[in-house]
Amino acid sequence: MPKFPKERRFSLHGQWSSRLAFIFAVSGSAVGLGNVWKFPYIAGVNGGGAFVLVYLVCVFVIGLPIMMSEILMGRRGRRNPVETMALLGQEEGGTSRWGIVGVVGVATGFFILSYYSVIAGWAVAYIFEGASGAFRGADAQQVEQLFSRISGNWFITGFWHTAFMALTIFVVAKGVKGGLERAVRILMPALIGLLLLLLIYSMIAGDFARGFAFLFEPKFSELTGAGVLEALGHAFFTLSVGMGAVMAYGAYLPAESSIGRTSIAVVVADTLIAIVAGLVIFPIVFANGLDPAAGPGLIFQSLPLAFGQLPGGSFVAVTFFLLLSFAAWTSAISLMEPAVAWLIERQKLLRSVAAIVIGGLIWLLGFLTVFSNSVLSELTFFQGTFFDNIDFVTSNIALPVGGLAIVVFAGWFMSASSTSEELDPDAGLGYQLWRFSARFIAPVAVVCIFLNAVGVF
Ligand code: TRP
Repeated sequence: MPKFPKERRFSLHGQWSSRLAFIFAVSGSAVGLGNVWKFPYIAGVNGGGAFVLVYLVCVFVIGLPIMMSEILMGRRGRRNPVETMALLGQEEGGTSRWGIVGVVGVATGFFILSYYSVIAGWAVAYIFEGASGAFRGADAQQVEQLFSRISGNWFITGFWHTAFMALTIFVVAKGVKGGLERAVRILMPALIGLLLLLLIYSMIAGDFARGFAFLFEPKFSELTGAGVLEALGHAFFTLSVGMGAVMAYGAYLPAESSIGRTSIAVVVADTLIAIVAGLVIFPIVFANGLDPAAGPGLIFQSLPLAFGQLPGGSFVAVTFFLLLSFAAWTSAISLMEPAVAWLIERQKLLRSVAAIVIGGLIWLLGFLTVFSNSVLSELTFFQGTFFDNIDFVTSNIALPVGGLAIVVFAGWFMSASSTSEELDPDAGLGYQLWRFSARFIAPVAVVCIFLNAVGVF
């Protein structure tokens, strides 16, 4: 068992009740809109196969060692990511300036949640659309109109964004352990079950062969440097690594739990869910003549078509968007937790006050995304609308840079005795593999992808 300095056996915010609870919490964070909404849409925009392959390599070769680094650092520091980085920086790296990595991470979570909540709001709105029978018998044109009626109306979108942020603030204010642990345990299996049901539908009613080929046949000619960077950014996004969310959760991990096995379980589950989501969506897209490169509206247009044809489709639709909203909810919580934990430890605020302050600011910022899909949709610069830019800068730049700093710190600045104390010392080969990836493979890969994207090679 790791030999912590005594005062660091526990976090001030409490502890997960078991390793299983932690697995559920981290998978709850990892599985979200990234898997079901973002992965299919960016795979579609980037031409499918080759992009998916790069994404898979990034997840396992770069994402996994970074996830392990975040958890081990979180557990060793037992504080919010800012304080943990500063503390470990002092102990292992000689300077508490490493805390800056935590500060950037907290800010990144802030920005991501501001737009994440808007998309999650669409999912919530679709629960009610499904219930009202809006998808019944709808054709491709009708579902497109429905989508623009919601996303293009700042009041409707803003309303659901507000509702979603209120739910997120509520859970974070209560502390993560009580309700969340229990809810995630039921909701995750339900989401997977429903996705499998939809998979059967898309095998029967969709153009499965074409959807499958689109996802898995690598056409390297379609892949650009920007596409590779997008795949890297999404690997970070989908695993929730690079900003300290997993580090914050790691601070609440019991000392004896295995970090390696936990991380592998989460990464495999997260990847499978994304792939199944892709296998549900693309066959429906091709069978109905929709555009795979439709962008952020992809699932909001393809799935309602399928629901509209299914017997009991309204019920399936309601269940699906309900589960998607829950998956987004358990992710949103982890985006806010680092900032809230930081404010509590720093200012000695009550958890509820800290959650309202942070959540309120994120809510306000979210209106920039709300407007960028409606009244400000004409205002474009750099990558596109405000939403496109905030998504690009956070996922494709801030997360990989944050992850790079974290993995370099764990691999090069922390002593082997500290890291091996945290990562099961008995698993010798596993530890060596992690250390080699953390020191060489992951940092070099991230730097190469950046250089490639700016056109160095
Ligand atoms: N991983 C989540 C998803 O795929 C989103 C998310 C939650 C996230 N916490 C994060 C992304 C931290 C980056 C960093 O939907």
